Amino acid sequence: VRVFVPCDTTALSLGADDVAARLEREAQARGLSITLVRNGSRGAAWLEPLVEVETANGRMAYGPVSADDIPELLDAGMLEGREEHALALGATEAISYFARQQRLTFARIGVTDPLSIVDYLAHDGFRGLEAALARAPREIVEEVKASGLRGRGGAAFPTGIKWQTVLDTEATQKYIVCNADEGDSGTFADRLVMECDPYMLIEGMTIAGLAVGATQGYIYLRSEYPLALEILQTAIARAEAAGYLGDDIRHSGKCFHLEVRLGAGAYICGEETSLLESLEGKRGLVRAKPPLPAIEGLFGLPTVVNNVLSLAAVPYILAEGGQAYADYGMGRSRGTLALQLAGNVQRGGLVELAFGATLHELMEEFGGGTLTGRPLRAVQVGGPLGAYLPQSQWQLPLDYEAFSAAGAVLGHGGVVMFDDSVDMAEQARFSMEFCKVESCGKCTPCRIGSTRGVEVIDRIRADEDRDANLALLEDLCETMVDGSLCAMGGMTPFPVQSALTHFSADFRRPADGGR
Ligand code: NAI
Ligand code: SF4
Repeated sequence: VRVFVPCDTTALSLGADDVAARLEREAQARGLSITLVRNGSRGAAWLEPLVEVETANGRMAYGPVSADDIPELLDAGMLEGREEHALALGATEAISYFARQQRLTFARIGVTDPLSIVDYLAHDGFRGLEAALARAPREIVEEVKASGLRGRGGAAFPTGIKWQTVLDTEATQKYIVCNADEGDSGTFADRLVMECDPYMLIEGMTIAGLAVGATQGYIYLRSEYPLALEILQTAIARAEAAGYLGDDIRHSGKCFHLEVRLGAGAYICGEETSLLESLEGKRGLVRAKPPLPAIEGLFGLPTVVNNVLSLAAVPYILAEGGQAYADYGMGRSRGTLALQLAGNVQRGGLVELAFGATLHELMEEFGGGTLTGRPLRAVQVGGPLGAYLPQSQWQLPLDYEAFSAAGAVLGHGGVVMFDDSVDMAEQARFSMEFCKVESCGKCTPCRIGSTRGVEVIDRIRADEDRDANLALLEDLCETMVDGSLCAMGGMTPFPVQSALTHFSADFRRPADGGR
């Protein structure tokens, strides 16, 4: 019997290794034969460790399982897929959290053994690369354009057009850089891709290299992801050994090399130009644009900088055709979005959905409301620089344009929920403080503005000349939006202004609590 116990960081932190060890011990003691597979996580953090058993009717799920549950689960017929135990969840694919998703990028995630090339190939792996190898660079770019894919790092710039710019720029050397500096609060989709399906990212980057004529790629990985580093390095070595990476890929005469570089924990190094500085071995200081990285990027040469999720979407697009991807979504937001439910939520985890579902559906039907059971009050979408949305905005469809019209951003798909015990003035202060700590210091509105912002909010909360300080805060926010060089200083006011607009009462009560 094949039994699956996940091995990503979430499952491991919840005791998956103990579960696996206990399972093997108990099975041996009972004379039962099992084959243990360490798969990736399907992304339902609330069910981890999620143990699955292969049966004639598909995989049966049990979770969240602790090592101490194993004897009872075996007694209750887990290895036969029986559903007698309280932790039995039935067929994995039928669990509504999974069944209701539209998984294109995450289709294999949690299903396969992340480092097995055989498993990857058996689940449609490298089909996109084979298709790309049979085409001219321009045709690959056209396919990505046809998919409507837009940058999943947050800015939503059309990926195909970015690739076109790099393709059209003459140079002796070009680069593909994967932005894996996943720093937004409540986000973990990039990590899941890297830990649970690393070959998909390698395949996407190789296709990007073939499309624009780049022979060298770098994955810029945040240092907080040590397991992802280990997995990526092993996967790169195995992909090279199997001929899917390196010189003469699949005997095509084309080559693409890939290396991982570690960041050092600065949020601003997720901004593409400071990321490039950091990759060049310098301090992560933002560069003024233009020139765009697509024209003068890494070491001054044309560079594609894409987020993990943008590159991970590419193998599907090449394998199935751009139109198949574009068939999902609404308006100009085509395909699917990887949403990450976090904060005060019952069922936190990854949910891949076509654009167009509402925020409310996501938070209630997938998230199941707050963990505390108290009423939901605010939700921050798009990371620490995203706006706080009040109940009146929860019917917004998940769509770049709809969010933008509401003064909000979808960003990298992080959704952090707060119940009614949240103090929104304190949250606003946190935004300014975050900017103060993480600012690269290159421009004044951000470097000085964020420090002054913290002070002004402190004065408001201490009821010192409140009306004048509230007006000053509005003014400061405007200056930061209009005068900052990059999104760090330019977007920090979004959470502050949304808190001021939608939760103004929180700025008008004593700082010592009193809600
Ligand atoms: P941007 O709008 O300046 O550029 C978007 C991308 O398109 C960049 O890669 C840029 O180089 C490229 N681009 C623009 N015009 C182009 C052209 N004609 N040809 C080729 N490429 C072109 O946005 P920026 O400053 O890179 O990012 C800001 C966004 O980042 C925000 O909207 C925010 O949502 C997001 N963000 C994401 C974070 C994360 O951790 N994922 C954190 C903070 C912000
Ligand atoms: Fe640096 Fe902030 Fe200016 Fe961006 S806005 S360049 S992070 S100082």
